[in-house]
Amino acid sequence: MKRMFLLAVLALGLVLGSACGARTNSQGDSPNEELIVIGMSQVGAESDWRVANSESMKAVFSEENGYRLLFNDARQKQENQITAIRRFIQQQVDYIVLMPISESGWDSVLQEAKEASIPVILVDRMADVEDESLYAAHIGSDFLREGTLAVNWMESGFRERGETLGIIHIQGTLGSTAQLGRTAALEAAIETHGHWELLAQLDGDFTQAKAYEVMTDYLSGVPGQRRIDVVYCENDNIAFGALQALEEQGYRCGREGVNIITFDATRGALAECLNGKISLVVECNPLLGPLVEEAIQTMEAGGTPEKHRYVEEQAFTQEDLTEALIACREY
Ligand code: AHR
Repeated sequence: MKRMFLLAVLALGLVLGSACGARTNSQGDSPNEELIVIGMSQVGAESDWRVANSESMKAVFSEENGYRLLFNDARQKQENQITAIRRFIQQQVDYIVLMPISESGWDSVLQEAKEASIPVILVDRMADVEDESLYAAHIGSDFLREGTLAVNWMESGFRERGETLGIIHIQGTLGSTAQLGRTAALEAAIETHGHWELLAQLDGDFTQAKAYEVMTDYLSGVPGQRRIDVVYCENDNIAFGALQALEEQGYRCGREGVNIITFDATRGALAECLNGKISLVVECNPLLGPLVEEAIQTMEAGGTPEKHRYVEEQAFTQEDLTEALIACREY
């Protein structure tokens, strides 16, 4: 029924010659009534990871595969995501797929989706809502586990060390599940290791430009060169910005100098790890399109998808990498 309503709206748009994006079937005359309509609200394009995540969704939710994808790029603003969801509800899409920028602030709009009987699938990050029935499924990473992988490596890598371990922490978008989990792992470890010292906690907002800016500011304010053992970067783009800032200020990065730790494991970060400038790369898998489709197909068949589905991820050091492995990586 909903599908019919949306298609009627789209068909009317075609008749009126509007630019509402209605597609036609292979004969080019009317919209394909069999398509499952997905309204998708993506955070933005702040990182290489995010771009790979959007591509994975677009590849799966294509017309050839039986979907009409209404893709909205929120340009890193929660209010844009909320507006997009309300528009999807008005359009009576079949499913809403939401990558929430941060965990809080979703109760009202997801309640509206529930009242319109539109299942919501949370992807990548979580939404911290009082009523779990406001979303049908969540598919993404276990960010606390990712942080724990990084911290475990720090524990074993610096076990023998008697002196203080100086750490700079550059965080991702504050309040996002990825930031909260990765930060929680590091902060808990600092609490329990008396000789780990947090030199600075900076906001890198998951972007290369911001990380470069805050790291440059920090280093410029330090008289001479400070001993920095670890820079814990909450994603690859932060690591690229930090690496550039450190090198410009004369710091040597790698096992014998500043140890950069990063999350995502995009090709670029793995290449910097292979060449020795990044010490540890923890994987965060953006290729979630097929898993989201599985959840939707389960619901199409009248079933209930798993409430939380976490993807398998691993950590890489230089010893684990080869050029061939990086070349065949999908992102
Ligand atoms: O939520 C996943 C995180 O968001 C990725 O680590 C980061 O690159 C992205 O922007």
